Parts: sequence; C-alpha cells; structure tokens
Amino acid sequence: MAGRIPEQLIQDIIAANDIVALVSQYVPLKRSGISYVGLCPFHKEKTPSFHVTADRQLYYCFGCGTGGNIVDFVKNIEHLDFIEAVRFLAERAGIQIDSLAFSAEDKKQYERKQRFLEMNKVAARFFRDKLFSPEGKGAQEYIQKRKLTGETVKAYGMGFAPDEWDSLVKHLLQNGYARDEIVQVGLATFTKTGKVIDRFRGRLMFPIIDVRGNVIGFGGRIMGEGNVKYLNSPETPVFNKGQNLFSLQLAKKSNELILVEGYMDVISLYQAGVQNAVASLGTALTAEQARLAAKFAEKITICYDTDGAGIKAALRAIEIFDGIDVKLRILSLPEGKDPDEFIKANGAAKFTELLQNADTPAGFQIRLLRKKFNLKDQAQKIEYVEACTKVISKVKSSVEREVLREKLANETGIRGSAIENEVEKNRGKAKKREEWNIRPPKPASMQMQKSKTGDKIISVCLKDKRVFKLYKDTLMEIIEDPVHREILNILEETDDAAQILTRFSDEDVPKAAAALNMPVQYENNEKAITELIEALKKEAHDATVKAAIESGDLALLNTLLMKKDGNE
Ligand code: GTP
Ligand code: MN
Repeated sequence: MAGRIPEQLIQDIIAANDIVALVSQYVPLKRSGISYVGLCPFHKEKTPSFHVTADRQLYYCFGCGTGGNIVDFVKNIEHLDFIEAVRFLAERAGIQIDSLAFSAEDKKQYERKQRFLEMNKVAARFFRDKLFSPEGKGAQEYIQKRKLTGETVKAYGMGFAPDEWDSLVKHLLQNGYARDEIVQVGLATFTKTGKVIDRFRGRLMFPIIDVRGNVIGFGGRIMGEGNVKYLNSPETPVFNKGQNLFSLQLAKKSNELILVEGYMDVISLYQAGVQNAVASLGTALTAEQARLAAKFAEKITICYDTDGAGIKAALRAIEIFDGIDVKLRILSLPEGKDPDEFIKANGAAKFTELLQNADTPAGFQIRLLRKKFNLKDQAQKIEYVEACTKVISKVKSSVEREVLREKLANETGIRGSAIENEVEKNRGKAKKREEWNIRPPKPASMQMQKSKTGDKIISVCLKDKRVFKLYKDTLMEIIEDPVHREILNILEETDDAAQILTRFSDEDVPKAAAALNMPVQYENNEKAITELIEALKKEAHDATVKAAIESGDLALLNTLLMKKDGNE
C-alpha cells in the first residue's frame, strides 16, 4: 500500500518525527547501549523487552515479536490504518497534508471503508427500529423467552431483520447506497437470477462492534430451532473475523477477560453483571484474537461449553495462548451447561465463585487425564502418573509444579519424591533441548528473510498424514514460526488447505498460503522430513551466528561456535 502513496511524502513525515520521542509518550524508555528499552505496550510483561533504536528508527519487542517503524507503531498503538497513522504523524510534526497528497487509489480505499462502516450503522439502526415496530413482535417475544431485559437489548444494540426478501436492500438504496456496495459489505447477496436480496431475514440481529466503536458486521440468530442457527457477515474490507472479539468494546474496561463460545453467553453474563466476557466470531479462536485479548487483560479465563467440542477447543486455546504473557485459567462448568444456561440457573455469585477457582491450564489437562484412566488398575495408574508428570514438567512456576505434584501424590499414593524425580528428569531433557537451540531474538528485518524449509515441512505434513503424526511433536519443538505452528495444530483436525486458510486473519493468510502451496514431491516423505528438520536446525543455528556477528556479540558467538564444535 505504501508504494501508492507518494513515497517522498511518507519519508518526509517519518523523518519529521522521532520514534524515541513518540514511543516515550506511551512507554517510559531507558537508554541501554545503542537502543532504548521499556515495557512492551503490546503485551503484558514485567521485565522490559521492548527495544527502540534511534539510529534505525525501529522498534522491536523480544517478548512478543512485534516490531516495525514509526508508522507501524502508531498503527498498532492507536488502532489506526495506514493512512490514518500517516495523518497522525503528519499532524504531530505540523506538516500540512491535504487528501490530495494521497494517491487516488488509496483515497478511494479509505473512503470506501468509511462508507461501508456508515452503511453498517444505517443497517443497525434499521434493524433496531424494526425490532420496536409491530413487525418485531415475534422477535420481542423471543427476547423475552431468552430472558433478556430492555436494557440488555439496548446495550448490545440488538435488532430484528424482517422476514422479507429485500426490506434492508430497499432501505439502503433509498439512503443512496448502490447494490454492489450493499453486497460487498455483506448485507445482501446476489441470487442466481441477478436479484439482490437481504442476507439476514427473519433473524434477531447482533451488531458486531470493534474496539473503536465501529459496526463492522452482524451476527443473526434464527428465532427458535432450525438450521444455520447463527448467520454472520462474511469477511469484508471492514470485517475480519480473526482479528476481532465480540463485545470487546464493553469488556475492555476490565483487566480480566472471560472467553466464551457464543454471543448469547456474552450477553447473558453481561446482564447478570459479569461484564467482561468476549467471544470469537463464529470461528475457532485465532492467535491474533489471543494477542488482542492479552493486550487488554492480565488474566483471561476460558469458559467454553463442557462438551467434547468445547473441551477440544479449550485445549487448542491453551496452545494458542502458549507464549502469550497472560494469566490463563480454564473454567469447566457442570456438564451440559453453557455459561448462558448456567448463570440463568445458578446466578452470578455462583459463576463468580467458579471463576475464582478456575483451573490453571495444567490443572485442566490433568483433570481431563484423570477421566481417561482407572486408578484401581496398576498399569493404568502408572500411565496416568507418567502423563501427568509430562504436563507438570512443562509448568513454568515452581510453586504450581509443587502443588500439582502434591495433589498427584495424594491421589495415587505414589511418593511425592518419585513424582518429583520424574518431573525433574523431563525438565532436564527439555532444558538440554533449549540450550542446544539457543537463539537470541532477531530484529524484525532479519526475520523476513526466512527460508523455504518451513514451508516445505508444512507441505509434506499436509500431503502425508502418517509422517505428520509421527513427527508433529518433534516439529513443535523446533518450529518457531507462529503461523507454521498454528497450521500444525489445525492439521490435527483437517488437512483441507482451503479450510485451514479460513482460520487465519488477512494478515497471516499470505504466509499460511505460502506454506500450504509449496509444491513438494519426494519419493520418501519420511526421509524428506528428517532431512528438512536437520536443515531447519542448521538454518536456525547459522542465523544465530550471523546475528551474533552482526551485532558484534563476541561472547555469544564464542558460545555458539564452541557448541557447534562440541556437537558435530
Ligand atoms: P444459543 O443457542 O442462542 O444459546 O447460542 P449459543 O451461544 O449456545 O450457541 P452455540 O454454542 O451453539 O454456538 C456458539 C457460537 O458459534 C455462536 O455464538 C456463533 O458465533 C457460532 N455458531 C453457532 N451456530 C452457528 C451456525 O450455524 N453457523 C455459524 N457460522 N456459526 C454458528
Ligand atoms: Mn446457548
């Protein structure tokens, strides 16, 4: 996009601002060598790993991996798009820019987005008015049946889409919008015969609002039972499902969030006074949503439905949150109840009590393991304990490890010291691996020149399920790229590349697609993957050496080279 805006103007605007001065307005920075260091504003941390360099005018966080130039910083911290960020910086530097300074194409894109958001607002008002008109009687009854108060309906801007073919389309046409754009924003669809009809018909409507207060899309529920219970807006230029969370604009006031599955769960909790729940938008949780949530909260409690699908989703969510600095908890409600039903039946106090006693991720995993084994059977008991020690050995907090060990000892009658030995043995192994793979974080600019090895590995896994199953664990140990890791996780569920791509946000799709589309053809996939694994390890090592040379870190260089000698 930057290419189309007069490059010189952008350069002038960037040059007129100093990244250290700007960042200092958000984060206290301290000088450290050639860079400035502070607490990262994009993820929660206690020790500073956020670096800003004055000479290169870049920022980079070694903790969460975000980085870029001053425009990227403004985009991310102010939640602005590119043009808005450039304007922001121009204003700050006192540079006059009129809209003519932008290329016609960029200006068009920007105005189109604004118009889409406007149109969504008009639609939301239309749905709301319909809910309170005689036509909305059935919807009002459904709302009563779901025990939602008028106040709740208002807080969520709920509405009703009439059960007609084109009532909204007509309304939008009257308001000066064109057929094509009504379809593009996802409020209508073309029929085979070329007619334009409302996407949402006969549904209770939930506007989806982003943290900046824009109506970016809608979810619509049929009233009663039936097929396609919830229909959502499709992905549009203003609606990215993977990058937003339902109700975050209300929940963000709290520094604790509750992650639930459904819109109704969020709304029901809100009505009961638990006003910090969010939900993903009709798709599985994405890494970006996890980072977004962690940006606003120190503690996040996952409270998915306690059925097979919900448990699976919770386990995946735990993986997604791995490496994101947030206090994660898992709340398991009594079987068969979702948060909406639970809070209606038992009240907010009971829910809050469970919330306060929610499991840690390891506690949750152990609880699940417990259901799989019969401890009266000697062999199963051993298997159970071994599985638990694996979970415990990954826990970072020594206090939590101790608590879990103790519990396991009590439960099984096995001596605590035996369990401790096993845990420490596992930890020793993991630590060795870590040392061998030691990699200081690289600046963003270097991360871009990634090789194709990771892509090849993913493609082999996509083609060959057996090889994937055999090597998944090994791969998870050496692959760092979050997009690649996410693909490996999704591969557990599906090997349909198109399906996999839908789990990624616009930003990550190119990278995911590159990996999924790598043309590979090996005679022996297993042999290929072991070679690729070796290649990836070597690349990582070489990159580290290169980084050490470039940064002049002689001490690190020495360690690395010694390690290499020792190992080869
Ligand atoms: P209620 O039945 O109204 O209580 O909804 P719920 O919140 O219990 O919904 P459920 O657990 O069935 O689904 C959770 C979320 O998944 C919903 O909020 C939707 O975002 C999504 N969802 C459910 N059904 C569908 C569907 O048929 N299509 C799509 N695209 N998403 C759905
Ligand atoms: Mn429900």
